[in-house]
Amino acid sequence: MDIYQRLENDHEAVRRLFELLEGCSSRAQRARSDLFSSLRNELLAHLLAEQEVFYDTLLARSDEQDLLLESVEVHAVVARMLDDIEACGVDDERFERRVSELEDLVAQHVAQEESVVFEMARKHFSADEAQKLGEQLQAHHEDP
Ligand SMILES: [Fe+2]
Ligand SMILES: [Fe+2]
Repeated sequence: MDIYQRLENDHEAVRRLFELLEGCSSRAQRARSDLFSSLRNELLAHLLAEQEVFYDTLLARSDEQDLLLESVEVHAVVARMLDDIEACGVDDERFERRVSELEDLVAQHVAQEESVVFEMARKHFSADEAQKLGEQLQAHHEDP
């Protein structure tokens, strides 16, 4: 599996967790809290692996630093929002609104990655390299 397919799989796993969290009633606090923890872990692991394996390699090759750094900056915003939501807790009345704001931001970011950023990466990585980067991403997930 190449890096694009693996990143898309990560994105899909995160999207599904957002969906499950949204479907979870505010009365099921324990389930909500567990789902939010899973989402937080999955998303943070994705951001880190994506940054260290994908963006760092691409940044070393591409001239379009601004666009790439802008994308990496969104990761810091997402991590901060996850911390804020974690601190606010599942029983807080702002929980749902904050999760939905985060979901919108992540969806927007993912759409940008899977179009503009992947297109740029395809100009710099051969099919072989994309395959190797995919393996590195997998290894990062197994041993961060
Ligand atoms: Fe990202
Ligand atoms: Fe991503």
